[in-house]
Order: sequence, then C-alpha cells, then structure tokens
Amino acid sequence: MPDDVVTMDKIVSLCKRRGFIFAASEIYGGIANTYDYGHYGVLLKQNIIGQWWTSMIQDRDDVVALDSAIIQHPRTWEASGHLAGFTDPLIDCRTCKQRFRADHLGELECGRRPSKHPGEDAQCDLTDPRDFNLMFETAIGAVKEGGTSVFLRPETAQGIFLDFKQVLQFARRKPPFGIAQVGKSFRNEITARNFIFRTLEFEQMEMEFFVPPDQAEHWHEHWMQERFEWYTRLGIDAARLRLRAHDADELSHYSAATSDIEYLYPFGWSELEGVANRGDFDLRQHAQHSGEKLEYVDPQGGERYIPHVIEPAAGVGRSMLAFMCDAYDEDDLGGEKRTVLRLHPALAPVKVAVLPLLRKDGHPEKARAVYEALRRTMKAEYDDGGAIGRRYRRQDEIGTPFAVTIDHQTLDDDTVTLRERDTLVQERVGTDGLVRRLQDRLAG
Ligand code: GAP
Repeated sequence: MPDDVVTMDKIVSLCKRRGFIFAASEIYGGIANTYDYGHYGVLLKQNIIGQWWTSMIQDRDDVVALDSAIIQHPRTWEASGHLAGFTDPLIDCRTCKQRFRADHLGELECGRRPSKHPGEDAQCDLTDPRDFNLMFETAIGAVKEGGTSVFLRPETAQGIFLDFKQVLQFARRKPPFGIAQVGKSFRNEITARNFIFRTLEFEQMEMEFFVPPDQAEHWHEHWMQERFEWYTRLGIDAARLRLRAHDADELSHYSAATSDIEYLYPFGWSELEGVANRGDFDLRQHAQHSGEKLEYVDPQGGERYIPHVIEPAAGVGRSMLAFMCDAYDEDDLGGEKRTVLRLHPALAPVKVAVLPLLRKDGHPEKARAVYEALRRTMKAEYDDGGAIGRRYRRQDEIGTPFAVTIDHQTLDDDTVTLRERDTLVQERVGTDGLVRRLQDRLAG
C-alpha cells in the first residue's frame, strides 16, 4: 500500500458511510470525544476482543479471566495513586475561554486563529498549567448530597489487583500466572482529536501477569514480544509497528519500566498498547490501605513474596483504528476506484456475502438456500439490493473476504461464482462442499 493512500478523513468517512462508527448524540449536535459503534463496528470490535481472549486464555494455560465492577470502593483510587496522581496539566486561555493540555500545545489549534497554536497569537492570554484529575466522579446513594463519592474506573487493572487474593485461591494458581479482563474505562479527556484514538469512554483489554520478583524482566520482554506479534499475526504490517521504551519522565506513577507498542497512524506514530512493569506497587499499596496481606505463600516450602506485575494494556478502539488504517487500500479497476479494507479474515465483520445476480428467475430462492447453509458456521450476509458491481464495492468496503454469486448457471449445474476480495479472482465452484472450502480458506 503506498504510504499516502490512507488518511484520517478517509477512515472517518468510510466508518460513517458503512455504519462502523459515528458521532454519539448526533441529533443534539454531538458530544465531544464520544462515538457510537454501528453494526459492522460492533462486529469488528467483537472479533478483535475475541482474538485477544483467544491469545490469552485459549492459546495458553497460565491466564484466567475476570470481569470486575466499574465502580469500586473509593479507597481503591487512593491506594492506586489515581486520586493524587492521575492528572493532566491544563491551561486556560482567558481570551477564547478554551482549555488545552499543556503538554499538547504544539499539536493543538488556537481557539481564535486555528492556523496557530495556543499562545502563538498576540491576543492569546494563557494561564499557568494546573493539574486536573482525569477521573469522572459520581455519587451512590439516594441523594447526591448525602451519597458517597465514587469514581468510574480509569483503568480496568485495579479490579484485578483487588481480586488477586480470591483468584489465587479459587484458581489454585502459583506465579507466574495472569488475570485478564476486558471492559470499559473512563477518562475526562479534554483534547478532542483523531477520531476514536482518544475518547471519554473506551474499552481496554488488560492482563496483569503476576511473577516472582526476580523474573520480572524476563516476563516484561516476553510480553512485549508476544503482544507485538499478536498485531502482526492479525495482519498489521510490522514496518508500521514499533516498540518504544518510556523515558524516566514519561513513566506513570506505578511503573518501573514501560514500553509502548506504537503504530504509524495517518497522524504519526502513537501509542497502541502499553506493556508495563508495575513492580509490586499496586499489591503493596492495596495491602497497606486495606490491611489484607496480598502476597503469594508457597504451601510447601513456606516461600512468601509480593509478586511483581507485568501488564500488557491495549485499547480496543485504538486497535480497531490501527487495523482499519492498515487494511485500507484503493485500487484502480480500469479507471474506476475501488476502496477495500484488506482485513485479516479473522477480524472481518462478515466472512462471506451471498449475492443473487437477479431478484427474479429463482435466483433469490437459490441464494437464500446457500446463505442458510453458510450462516450456520460463519458470519454471512445476504444482499440482493442494487447492481452487482455496487454490491461488490459495498462488501469490499466492509472487508468481506469472499462473495458468492448465484446466477442462471447455478440453477442448471449448482455452481456459483466465488470472488476473492484481495485478488479479485473469480472461480466457478460447486455449492456442494462450499462451506468446507470457505472454512479452509478462512482458516488458511
Ligand atoms: N492499566 C494501564 C493503563 O491504563 P494506559 O497506557 O493509560 O495504561 C492503556 O492505557 C491503553 O488504553 C492505551 O494504550 C490505549 O490503547 C488505551 N487508552 C487509554 N486512554 C484512552 C482513551 N482516552 N481513549 C481511547 N483509548 C485509550
């Protein structure tokens, strides 16, 4: 794919045109940094999450699953350090009344003169930076005033630390082992940019891997490698991925070392996933604040220690954006432009489209029968609306790897045309064995 084919504008417009993702609350003018996922967006997202779970708990036997609450005891965030330290430095402009992240000024537009950055125009009047906590606060209880202040979790990880002891007992695990979780997190991000890259609510795929302290570096290396390869196995071009170690001044308050897996988005290299060595920070903090011993005790030898934690933490939205950008392509078909998402078959929202050539002469009935046979084992879509070329284009744009077309000949000899998205090769194949043939090609 030539470097300049994909742009954010093209991705945003494709997402809207095909109903992957659109602005939330659009009838009220939208709400900043918040998006809704439509049919194909949901399917793609679920496939990404499904592949992540497969890599965590099907392909290995040292990780268990968890689904912890979004709202936890408020002391959680005291112990985790989020109450005191999970802040962004913000600057206000007294002239345009806009608020900016002090560390992003060079990438942001001035509120009055968008061609300039905040502070560059003579009329800009910026305050000093002030720390602003990113957690959303709310209250539980019948009345707001008398209720208890609680927070929407800013990361799924803390629920895992709170349940460490329980999982250790019921899952009968011994470090090294991991606890994996997928769920929504919330951050009061004030910088709106780059579509779903940075949003107020987002899904995280996080795994906390508990290890004996002297194995932490080994496992950090292991998970950096493992997670990098997960993206390339699912089709991302390795040339657009890199691992970047955080400088000391970038590290989160809990981290002993972090490397980001970065992707070359159309707006530049940016974080896709963080792989952190959290040391024993979290278990030690929660032990101190709760009074519970959060440690591993070997039942035989009596060995006792607080495990260190290696954490690969990925965002579903950022992964989806990377998979879409990487898969986006445009072909010239004899003067006609074709937009195609060359998604890995495992991620494609629809695996096969079944298209009757005509809406008469028995084509729909036959196509329906083929569709019914296919949908039992794979996500199939039946589409009889519009010219066949338009229907192919629609499937190309949502990344469907195969299309099966039913025509006059099908009624005579029970064969169909099987069209492959990437090569555009069309072959005539029998309906007998079609399901098996497609299963093999999708798996291969
Ligand atoms: N538990 C560690 C943690 O939360 P993080 O680097 O802040 O670390 C992990 O977040 C991942 O979550 C990021 O790499 C990114 O993919 C995703 N993420 C974080 N903030 C996000 C936001 N505001 N919008 C979308 N995704 C976000």
